[in-house]
Amino acid sequence: MTGNTGRERWSSTLGFILASIGSAVGIGNVWRFPYIVGANGGGAFLIPYLISVLLFGLPLMVLEFAIGRNTGTSVVTAFRSIQGRFSFAGLAVVAIASLVLSYYLVITSWVLAYALFFALNRPVDFGAFTGPYLPLIFFLLSGIAVFLTVRSGVREGIEKVSRVLIPVLVVILLFLVVFALTQAGAMDGIGFYLSPDYSRLADPTVWTAAFGQAFFSLSVGMGVMLTYGSYLEGGDLFRNASVIAVADMLIAILAGLVIFPLVFTAGLDPAAGVNLTFITLPAVFTGMRFGMVLGALFFAMLFTAALTSAVSMLEVPVAAMMDSRGYSRKRATLLVFGVIMLLGLPSALSYTALELELLGTPLLDLNDYLFGTIGLIVAGLIISIVGGWYMDRARVCTEIGGCGWQQKIYMALIRYCVPTILLITLIASLLQAAG
Ligand code: PHE
Repeated sequence: MTGNTGRERWSSTLGFILASIGSAVGIGNVWRFPYIVGANGGGAFLIPYLISVLLFGLPLMVLEFAIGRNTGTSVVTAFRSIQGRFSFAGLAVVAIASLVLSYYLVITSWVLAYALFFALNRPVDFGAFTGPYLPLIFFLLSGIAVFLTVRSGVREGIEKVSRVLIPVLVVILLFLVVFALTQAGAMDGIGFYLSPDYSRLADPTVWTAAFGQAFFSLSVGMGVMLTYGSYLEGGDLFRNASVIAVADMLIAILAGLVIFPLVFTAGLDPAAGVNLTFITLPAVFTGMRFGMVLGALFFAMLFTAALTSAVSMLEVPVAAMMDSRGYSRKRATLLVFGVIMLLGLPSALSYTALELELLGTPLLDLNDYLFGTIGLIVAGLIISIVGGWYMDRARVCTEIGGCGWQQKIYMALIRYCVPTILLITLIASLLQAAG
């Protein structure tokens, strides 16, 4: 382990795990996972998903931790220390993380607005909320919350916020699960969500959906885990990564146990993505007893999840700037914050009265496709290739507990399987968009 001694550190392994869970558990778990399960074979989808997490997501997470911990620095400088010419690849990863953050923050800000509206007993409909420029104010507010957290540092900011928010999230989620499962439509909801349709497993798009969702949900492939790993000292990386992955999966599955029972109890159609979270669910809450409290709790929970994920994405460019340019944390955070707000503005405006669109698609959706889907896969490919093929084998071995047969299998996964799967997912995503 080379790590430099003056570097910020997590206060403990638990702090590191909570921060990583904070990154992994995000909007992807609550609005994306349940819908993807429902649309891709219900309970049967859990098979490709589990395989994706275990065989591809988890190994890539361990690799990111290993690169970060071994080089003791963040993406750009870590890549440079592996081979000088890779700094550019590191920059590409940083750029992708920043671009994903720019629109992720817009969705985060909608969640914050909804939490507040429900808490104030004034639910609004999505069109009425996004029509005027109100979303811009919430965009700024969420941006500031993320900015302040990252500015406070690894231990005092990122770790502290995760230590408080993750338990809050779990408590609210468990309460909502119990509530939802005792509603009249619970069985229908669960039927839609989980009853397995094994015939769907023959459809390759079900598999690529599983790979894409696993990478996104585990926050791998964007340098987040690499950066978090650079603040880590000891510990078994496989064990830590497994805890993070299991927590991420459990929370995603539980989120579906809240959403579908409620939607079916209200007799509504389980719609996709944006609509499910910002139109269907609010309608469910508005129409039910204690709906305001439940809505406020649900969106508050989603906000805690989104905030800690956004924080982790901001840390990628901030750490890169500190490590490669020698900027102070305060200066780097302010600079990056400014850039992200500017980058996010078009996405924020795309659902307002201005309706910024390109090729008939709102810019936010376009960004989600270009950066959150395609960009994430490309960045994942870069990391797996640089780490798997060019990082000195002995350096990887010191991080993963030796060079025995288990580690050989692991290296084969990283060098051959992960890039292949990412490439297949990339092609499938491009074809899907073209078709
Ligand atoms: N994992 C987060 C989610 O599920 C999103 C994310 C992706 C965060 C990549 C950081 C890096 O919402």
